[in-house]
This record gives sequence, C-alpha cells and structure tokens, in this order.
Amino acid sequence: MILPSILSADFSKLGAECEEVLRAGGDFLHLDVMDGHFVPNISFGPHVVESIRPEIDAYFDAHLMISEPLRYAPALVKAGANNITFHVEAVDDPVATARELRKLGCHVGITLRPATPVDAILPALDEVDLVLIMSVVPGFSGQKFMPEVLPKARDVKKRLRADQRLEIDGGIHVGTIEQTRDAGVDWFVVASAIFDRPDRAGAIAELREKLGG
Ligand code: DX5
Ligand code: ZN
Repeated sequence: MILPSILSADFSKLGAECEEVLRAGGDFLHLDVMDGHFVPNISFGPHVVESIRPEIDAYFDAHLMISEPLRYAPALVKAGANNITFHVEAVDDPVATARELRKLGCHVGITLRPATPVDAILPALDEVDLVLIMSVVPGFSGQKFMPEVLPKARDVKKRLRADQRLEIDGGIHVGTIEQTRDAGVDWFVVASAIFDRPDRAGAIAELREKLGG
C-alpha cells in the first residue's frame, strides 16, 4: 500500500489535495498529528480530520507524534481516523496504551524513533495491528532516508503475525522504496515525493513500478 502523507499537502485546499492523491493512485491517507512537544513541529488535530472525512472514502492512518496519545485518540477516532499509531517513547506502558486504544474500536499501531531499539516495542507486539518503523527523526517531511533502520524493519517483520502489517515512514522515494520492500515493509508512507511533484499520478506510478507493479 502507498500512503500519501498530507503533511506536504497545500493546506489552503486540503480536501482537494486529498482527493487528488487518492485519484492518482494512493491507497490510504497518512495523517501526521504533531503537538509541538513530542516533536518540534505542530501540524493539525481532530478538527481538520473531521473536516476532510465527509469528502474522503479512504482509510485514515493517523500517526500521533504527541506526548499524550490517549488524551487525543478518542477525538481523532470520532473525527474519522481508522488507525491510531502511537510512539512508544511517549508512554509509560505501551501494552496498556495499546489496549486502551483498542477499546476505541480503531486499529492500533506502535512506532519508534530511529534511535529507539526494537526491544522497546516487543512487549506490545501482540496488542497491535501494525508496526511503523520511522526512517527519519519524526517532525518534518522532506528529510533524508536513514538506511540504518532497515535491520530493525527486518527484525520486526520476522516477529509479526500474518495479519499484522509493517509500515515505514520518512524519506521514501523511488531511490529508497525497494530496499524497504526487501526488508519486509507492506505500507509505504510518502509525503514530499508525491506532493512536491505536480504530476502526482506519475509519482505514485513510479513508486508502484519499483514495487513491481
Ligand atoms: C515525519 C512524518 C512523515 C512525513 C514523511 O515526521 O511522520 O509522515 O510526512 O515525509 P517524507 O515522505 O517527505 O519524508
Ligand atoms: Zn508520519
């Protein structure tokens, strides 16, 4: 699956941007929620998700780069998020956090910064639907892919059940996507390599071509 991340969209016409990347071949939308505390950037919250939801039929994959995921997750699910991914570094008890999120009726993901070892997420692995490997330091689009996270992706993939997904986020473009697929990634988040191109359909087609169509 290719997930355009709207962090690089033109927010003056966000609804149209979302529709365009989906029409252009994007599978799901990736929504980066940032609080200016867990990461040094602020993006958007439930109200923006709620605003675009009626126009968009796609699956909403929310990536919470915030210090208190359990505080804001209910509003995000109500606004239309289908999956809530939280950062293991943001919580004291990842297992309890995943279980609380599950009660909201959404899918649940766990993620970790590039510098965080895989060990940190292992206790919660059984509780989640997906693991997101961050391949940049979270906070901004347009950063350079960090290949040193690939061993983590391979390690996690080996531990996942068949019904769990492996996702990667940060610096994914035609020059990096193949090595992440080879490491076992199922879901590819892409912001700048889609939104910074006038021809979004062409950008997504090139990415799919690298994945083998
Ligand atoms: C980074 C965000 C990403 C970001 C990816 O903190 O989580 O989703 O939008 O941007 P690119 O694809 O440009 O690296
Ligand atoms: Zn993200």
